[in-house]
Amino acid sequence: MTAELSPPQLPMQRDCPLHPPPDYQRLRAQSPVSRFTWPNGVQAWLVTRYADVRAALGDRRLSVHRTASPPPSLALGRASGVMLPRSLVGMDPPEHTLWRRLIIREMTARRMARLRPRIEEIVDEHLERMARTGPPADLVPAFALPVPSLVICELLGIPPADRAEFQRHTEVISAVDSAAGQVQAASSALMGYIGELIAAKRRAPGDDILSHLAQATVDGPAPDSDGALGNGMLLLIAGHETTANMIALRVVTLLEYPDQRRLVREDPALIDRAVEELLRFHAVIQYGLVRRATEDLSIGGQQVQAGDWVVCSLASANRDLASCAGDPAEFRAGREPASHTSFGYGIHQCAGQHLARLELRAALSGLFRRFPGLRLAEPSGQLPFRTDMFVYGLHRVPLCW
Ligand code: HEM
Repeated sequence: MTAELSPPQLPMQRDCPLHPPPDYQRLRAQSPVSRFTWPNGVQAWLVTRYADVRAALGDRRLSVHRTASPPPSLALGRASGVMLPRSLVGMDPPEHTLWRRLIIREMTARRMARLRPRIEEIVDEHLERMARTGPPADLVPAFALPVPSLVICELLGIPPADRAEFQRHTEVISAVDSAAGQVQAASSALMGYIGELIAAKRRAPGDDILSHLAQATVDGPAPDSDGALGNGMLLLIAGHETTANMIALRVVTLLEYPDQRRLVREDPALIDRAVEELLRFHAVIQYGLVRRATEDLSIGGQQVQAGDWVVCSLASANRDLASCAGDPAEFRAGREPASHTSFGYGIHQCAGQHLARLELRAALSGLFRRFPGLRLAEPSGQLPFRTDMFVYGLHRVPLCW
């Protein structure tokens, strides 16, 4: 480690809410794999370069299995407070391989494309409601939170009659003003509900993911029903908070870059590139992905011992010069798609990425088509960004049109 550079302190301060903390740039240049101490006293390595992040996430000697002690990420910022039963994100091979295969075949680009008309319908319903009751409107409760939640209901096969209650629980889990006890109560109610639904679908399956997971534990290869519950809950949580914040943050970004927004309006064929560039520009898992070394290894030339914690910063990797052609700090809607790390890398790479892209595309196209004069109702400097949360984004986005 270079003498002039003090060890990173997490969370790092941002100069601008639309860019990652500037310290990442200094770390990439001078100390790309550096030791730091989490506020709870746990020491870890912070990996900041694109090539090292990808190499680390692809390295089987770094495990996601965290039985020995709680992961440091829980001590930083407000985690959702939801304790998942065993799911993909906490499994190593061979258990991970089995469940991953079951889930990935439900989430292929082709299967997700079949959901597209329904996603567009959900988007339009919410835009019409916004138009009836506004302006103004707060994008977060009016659109960004309920749209992904209803899409997940479709995917998981939540019966229409249960959706209002299901959404009430997911709202409590995501709301900034929910007390820890409320979040825990809502998540155990949700877990109880999903558990009962899986049992019901085991008896009378439909054509949805929960039914398929439930069936796999009856006549398929899955060894236990715990995994069906854990992975059902994972799909619900992984697909909700990330996508909701992704929508909110990307809408604000497009509003703050009117020239780039104009480019997409003048050439709608650019929307797919714009979506990919928006994904690269903001990696919403703000502190990075946590792993633990099962053996001694070297990352970016730095010796890491068995048992050490490793945190891979996706936000930093996406701003590394090696990650894309041209200046990575610039938001260019028409940029040649870069192979960013926002969905992770390696065997745990996001299983919901095709769906996330579809949702983002439908949400942005729908919103700017329905409200061509959309603008922020407050200066962007006053917006409440989620600087203290595991998933970066916004608590509130007041809009008018
Ligand atoms: C923009 C929205 C999203 C972002 C940024 C995102 C990001 C990520 C990242 C970084 C990982 C890797 C975690 C790790 O390696 O430890 C991941 C895993 C995962 N994501 Fe997403 N995700 C998004 C949306 C979704 C959606 C919509 C779903 C499904 C409904 C989903 C389901 C999953 C699942 C099941 C995994 C675990 C994969 C595994 O461990 O094998 N995600 N996601």
